[in-house]
Amino acid sequence: MLQFFKKLGRSKPSTFKPVILVTGCSSGLGLALATLLYRQRNYRVVVTARTPSLPFLKRRFKEDDRFWIHSLDVTVEKERRTLIKNIEEKWGGVNILVNNAGISYRAVLEHMTEGDEYLQLATNYLGPVGLMRLVLPYMRSQGRGKIINVSSVSGMLAMPTMASYSASKHALEGASEALWYEAKPFGINVSLLQPGFIRSKSFERVYYTALAKLTSDEGGAYADYYGNMRPFIARLMNRSLATPESVALRVLKVIRTENPPLWIPATLDAIVFYHIRRLLPRRLLQPLLFSALPNASRWGLGETRCRRRRTHPTQAATNQKILAFQRTRLASSSVGMSDDGKNDSSGANTFKTERVRSSGT
Ligand SMILES: NC(=O)c1ccc[n+]([C@@H]2O[C@H](COP(=O)([O-])OP(=O)(O)OC[C@H]3O[C@@H](n4cnc5c(N)ncnc54)[C@H](OP(=O)(O)O)[C@@H]3O)[C@@H](O)[C@H]2O)c1
Repeated sequence: MLQFFKKLGRSKPSTFKPVILVTGCSSGLGLALATLLYRQRNYRVVVTARTPSLPFLKRRFKEDDRFWIHSLDVTVEKERRTLIKNIEEKWGGVNILVNNAGISYRAVLEHMTEGDEYLQLATNYLGPVGLMRLVLPYMRSQGRGKIINVSSVSGMLAMPTMASYSASKHALEGASEALWYEAKPFGINVSLLQPGFIRSKSFERVYYTALAKLTSDEGGAYADYYGNMRPFIARLMNRSLATPESVALRVLKVIRTENPPLWIPATLDAIVFYHIRRLLPRRLLQPLLFSALPNASRWGLGETRCRRRRTHPTQAATNQKILAFQRTRLASSSVGMSDDGKNDSSGANTFKTERVRSSGT
């Protein structure tokens, strides 16, 4: 009988419309999720993008009393604070946070600079964590709330040429796991959505460092890595069954689920990797994955000690350029960071980070 009255109470139409905040809505998964939420009348939604992308969003969506477009660069603390303050003034606070914005460097560890590392971490880790800190007090006061952090298969497994990206997603996973325990007693749910490859142009919006680009174009010790990994990733991406729209539907399901789990592999390949990682001992897993990489057994062979004398003259010249660049970097003081996370160009960072859209992938 008691159950019956409980159910009756639940079936009463609720006027409460949770406030959802989504970051990085100008393309890919964020745009697909914004499009999906635009049609959901039972939520109030704040979609955000960096200032240059705002006109695109404003053309795409019509703002009203439940759909709001706001600027946000997740790496800038002042912008994070302003956004949350504005939401609190307008709608009380954020009930559901979706940390989606992210960037991905495609460079081997040796080819990253301090500035590159910082930008990767600021976007994929420090920014999301900063936002979580700002929304938690309101969620705690309400005794409920949901944080959905978009991670990646790279948060479970690392891949060559994606060291820094993997590190950023591992960091996000670690913090989210700890927060899961910290927030649970307050009725706040934390989830990590882990997509694998998504069939879209998004994964081509990767960042190359100066050295990665130089090596890709002219050769060098890591030329094979770039030459093989780029088409390999493109192939996996193009063959993937998952689209930004299908992953966005998965996010909506998490939003609607009362107690979603912490780890949510969001695509078929992610589910496979999730189980492989759980079931296979690491000493078997790494050689297995290495052997699955295209031509991996031959990577860097021309650069090993025994073959160095045979290096082609053009190749040798490129190697010299790379060495000179690395020496300059080591000799001078480390690259400084300003408060807003931008590179301080007074350092040795003479090669600027370039954002290059890869073609032909
Ligand atoms: N695509 C995949 O295959 C894949 C796989 C696994 C995980 N993921 C993860 O899924 C999420 C979305 O990826 P996606 O593929 O949809 O990427 P995407 O198409 O490149 O979109 C990334 C979004 O993040 C925004 N962004 C970048 N830097 C920002 C900053 N500093 N502040 C605010 N917004 C910023 C971009 O906006 P701007 O217009 O301002 O550049 C863009 O809207 C990411 O966290 C990514 O790591 C993607």
